[in-house]
Amino acid sequence: MSANTCRYRPGLRHWHPLLASRALRRKPIARTLAGERLVLFRTASGQAAALAETCPHRRMSLAAGRVQGDELVCAYHGWRFAPGGAIRCPLMPASELRHQAFQVREAHGLIWIRQATQSEDPPLPSWDSGGLALAGVAFHTVPAPLELTLDNFTEVEHTSSIHQVFGFTQPEAIEHRLELEPAATRVWNSGPQKAFPPVFNGFIDNRPGDSFANDWITTFDPLLTIYDQTWRSPKGKPRRFRLKVVMFFVPIDDTTTQLTTLVYSPKVLPGRLHRALAAPIIKAVTAHELNLDVWALAQLADLDTELNPRTLGPLDRVLLENRRRLKPAYLERV
Ligand code: FES
Ligand SMILES: [Fe+2]
Repeated sequence: MSANTCRYRPGLRHWHPLLASRALRRKPIARTLAGERLVLFRTASGQAAALAETCPHRRMSLAAGRVQGDELVCAYHGWRFAPGGAIRCPLMPASELRHQAFQVREAHGLIWIRQATQSEDPPLPSWDSGGLALAGVAFHTVPAPLELTLDNFTEVEHTSSIHQVFGFTQPEAIEHRLELEPAATRVWNSGPQKAFPPVFNGFIDNRPGDSFANDWITTFDPLLTIYDQTWRSPKGKPRRFRLKVVMFFVPIDDTTTQLTTLVYSPKVLPGRLHRALAAPIIKAVTAHELNLDVWALAQLADLDTELNPRTLGPLDRVLLENRRRLKPAYLERV
């Protein structure tokens, strides 16, 4: 029986991008998703698989095992596990024992995992990249619960104090709109952009004095925010360089959240130069900015997820709305 008491366990019914496809080879690896300890492996024929980590025989971690053909072999007594959960036990050939298996898909260079339920078989999340090119995928581990991590990434008041590149010079100058739908929240912010660092000079057209607009939508099955970030010249002309950031909030356990972030931009250099030079810089700068968010969340004095409406400012209105929509998706069993 599962000992998983993670409060986000109901969220396992949604697809979550847990790791990069290329990080999964034949050597089994242990990971946790919504408190569920998993072993992931790739069979000899290349199929990605995820099983409950604990061997049902005598509790050896299956991450200590090895892949042979299309099965994972437990290191302790050699029981063999197929990706779908079928067990072959040398001393009990007639046994029909099964092990808990999770659904696995590969798309966008990522391994997606969910726990199957009888009532739902959702498609993988999809999004429109807006004709932009993928600059890279970043993974960050945040030492904070899902709610507090989401709070940080759906308000911009902190961008003037915490961020170095992407953000507003001061919160008083931010124009802000909030649109609510039953299953989504949408936020639009616009204001003066911080000065871009010299590393961008030469291949993007954004300049000091530009205005920055950050328009994002958050949906909850799975928890995902898509940011459209655009800039305009002081005369209001749209800059060519823009960013689309697709951020998945993956609950690892009660106090840890993983961000899986896909960063898209226009091709700013010709041909292969973009992939070789510009895309890594764009990804690295974005990942650096996300590290600053991780730093901020690591400084929280406690991890209480309660919000006090009396202390919330005008840019925080979305937080309570997000919490309302998060509850049925991640905190309530179906
Ligand atoms: S503990 Fe895994 S086969 Fe015995
Ligand atoms: Fe931030």
